[in-house]
Amino acid sequence: MLKKPEAAQTDVVIAESERFSARNYAPLPVAVTRGDGARVWDVDGNEYLDMLAAYSALNQGHRHPRIVGAAKEQLDKLTLTSRAFHNDQMGPFLRELCAAAEMDKALPMNTGAEAVETAIKMVRKWGYRVVGVPEGEAEILVCGGNFAGRTTTLVSFSSDPTCRDGFGPLTPGFRAVPYGDAAALRRAIGERTVGFLVEPIQGEGGVVIPPKGYLEEVRAICDERGIALIADEIQTGLGRTGRLFCCDWDGIRPDVLTVGKALGGGVYPVSAALARAELMDVFEPGSHGSTFGGNPLAAAVARAALRVIIDEELPARADELGTWLLNELRAIDSPHVAEVRGRGLMIGIVVRDASGPARRFCEALMARGILAKETQAQVIRLAPPLTISRDDLRWALAIISDVLGPPG
Ligand SMILES: Cc1ncc(COP(=O)(O)O)c(C=O)c1O
Repeated sequence: MLKKPEAAQTDVVIAESERFSARNYAPLPVAVTRGDGARVWDVDGNEYLDMLAAYSALNQGHRHPRIVGAAKEQLDKLTLTSRAFHNDQMGPFLRELCAAAEMDKALPMNTGAEAVETAIKMVRKWGYRVVGVPEGEAEILVCGGNFAGRTTTLVSFSSDPTCRDGFGPLTPGFRAVPYGDAAALRRAIGERTVGFLVEPIQGEGGVVIPPKGYLEEVRAICDERGIALIADEIQTGLGRTGRLFCCDWDGIRPDVLTVGKALGGGVYPVSAALARAELMDVFEPGSHGSTFGGNPLAAAVARAALRVIIDEELPARADELGTWLLNELRAIDSPHVAEVRGRGLMIGIVVRDASGPARRFCEALMARGILAKETQAQVIRLAPPLTISRDDLRWALAIISDVLGPPG
């Protein structure tokens, strides 16, 4: 068990945060002050293995030296121009990102939610300008159980009442189909449908993996019906699932791809919506933008973040370590586990309802030096930095097995 001295600094830090912040999160009671690779330390000096990696924004680990180095170098040169002027980092960043993702063009933003908003605006405008849907009537199909962020429009199509309730009037123009059901998508497409927004694996939805071949079928349906396929890879992208993009597992390219989180290497918020030229070209000056999107510091950090993922072969690492970990977790003899599912290092341990909420297991793991967080009430999500060592995973596995295993 970790030590918690009398009048622990942790309690002081938490009390202050709670006094001055909104209660819009339910964090574990740990206050982190330092991070390095897959490890973090709290304000009382306890060490933990980070098995959440900031919801996959830390695929490269905490303070990766090449990413921090790139940030420091850029800090000494130029940090912000706004898009009123050009800067010498944005072009190379977008070129490298488009090459890695095999997409034509990219529009840089800051958060994941902004990237999805960008995709929605792009596809709606494309629907009016190119497809010929009457102005104001475009519809985008989404999936039940989706998560795309917390803006007013994005929560409007959430199926989670906690995200949505009390925030109306909601943005119209969205309709949900069941996730993983290609036939339902086919049936739902109507005259006014311009796009389909889908996560290749639903992360916040509880690490939900669609049936094999789903995305391939979705791609074929979108082609057949002339609607844009928008893949939200903000959580699944950049190596997490064992491929650079999760769509690679199905060998498909979407028409629009959103990326974020690990694009900023855990150092800076960077996101982007990538698209085929025909879609991206609907934007004209003034129709979309962000003061900070594409700023030189963000671009320099993202270039390094992307290079680390590619040079260190993090997707292959996630595949190898994830396959091993998944098998080991499935072998745990536990009265509490209903299912273990995942791909690469994106893993969900589904806790039986009768065993109580996943949160209590996350708290037990925390007390033993592992930071993991539930997603949905019953799922313990394991998503460590992709740079984590096999020895660290082995150590974590023994503790997880202990925490989940039968008593005595
Ligand atoms: C699939 C997906 N899309 C969008 C987002 C929103 O990203 P952000 O929190 O950076 O706005 C998330 C965040 O968890 C996500 O998992």
